[in-house]
Amino acid sequence: QTAPRNLRDLPKGHLHLHMEAAIRPSTLNEMAATLGIEPPNTTVFSGFSQFDIVYRTLLAVLQEPTHLATLMDQIFEDQVANGVVYLELGVDSSFYVERYGSHSRALEVMLGLARTASERHGLAFGFMVTIDRTASIEHSILIAEAAALFAGEGVVSLGLASDERGHPCADFAEAFAIAKAAGLHSTPHAGELVGPPSVREAIDVLHADRVLHGVRAIEDPELVAELAARGITLDVCPTSNVLLDVVDTIAEHPLPRLLAAGVRCSINADDPIIFGPNILAEYELCRAELGLTDEQLADCAWTSIETTAAPDEVKSAAR
Ligand code: HPA
Ligand code: ZN
Repeated sequence: QTAPRNLRDLPKGHLHLHMEAAIRPSTLNEMAATLGIEPPNTTVFSGFSQFDIVYRTLLAVLQEPTHLATLMDQIFEDQVANGVVYLELGVDSSFYVERYGSHSRALEVMLGLARTASERHGLAFGFMVTIDRTASIEHSILIAEAAALFAGEGVVSLGLASDERGHPCADFAEAFAIAKAAGLHSTPHAGELVGPPSVREAIDVLHADRVLHGVRAIEDPELVAELAARGITLDVCPTSNVLLDVVDTIAEHPLPRLLAAGVRCSINADDPIIFGPNILAEYELCRAELGLTDEQLADCAWTSIETTAAPDEVKSAAR
């Protein structure tokens, strides 16, 4: 009998992590104190709409340019402490467009901070520029064009976040075509608040390379088989799914069934300041509550590196 694998030392990619929600609780409190405001309570919410409001309260605290630099540095430090060797960080330039004047300038500033943090902590990264699907189509095209400017310069993928209900993937075909033409990966959120038809659109219309969440594909066996056959990765966030009522209990999470069906999955934290666990704790949870074996956990970790834009050196070191 061999000892269980040390999950800290398993080389992991973190592919589904939204920048503002990766702030440390202590840093959130300190920044609020500097501004003389109450720190937002980020852990009390019920349902996606309240979650979305909580997420936006984080922006009130990240007001100073130095706050973004601190946030970025600590995110990279924390990922390394969790055994992450590649970070694909979700950023939304629209939160900073007023401050910096344009989407491209906002991305340039954030990329500069990330490059500094990357060198300092020795962690490879790429940006997933995420479109807010509740904003307009024109807005989505602006963001896609700004993201495309930085293809090969730090931006690796185009994402699509916020409330899936009433905001179908298909509305964003043009934005994702721009991204694909620039060589970016297509990485929309789908199959979280809406079922299989949303995942279907993500892969058929947005040509998704990976789907963020995607777990409700489990409701359609044919779709599951297709995801498996085409090797499309699902970037799964178990605790997020419980707290946003995508699944009733962690024990019912479909990750084990998706893996058994041959679907490639990565394990991620999504929004740790809101949901609690960091990525390492999510891996531990998958072992303790979902019964994933060391081999399955290692497969998820390898998927989180192999099926991404991680640099070749990172891939060969993790193989
Ligand atoms: N779903 C949609 N939008 C999001 C999420 C999520 O889980 N996290 C942050 N933005
Ligand atoms: Zn997310």
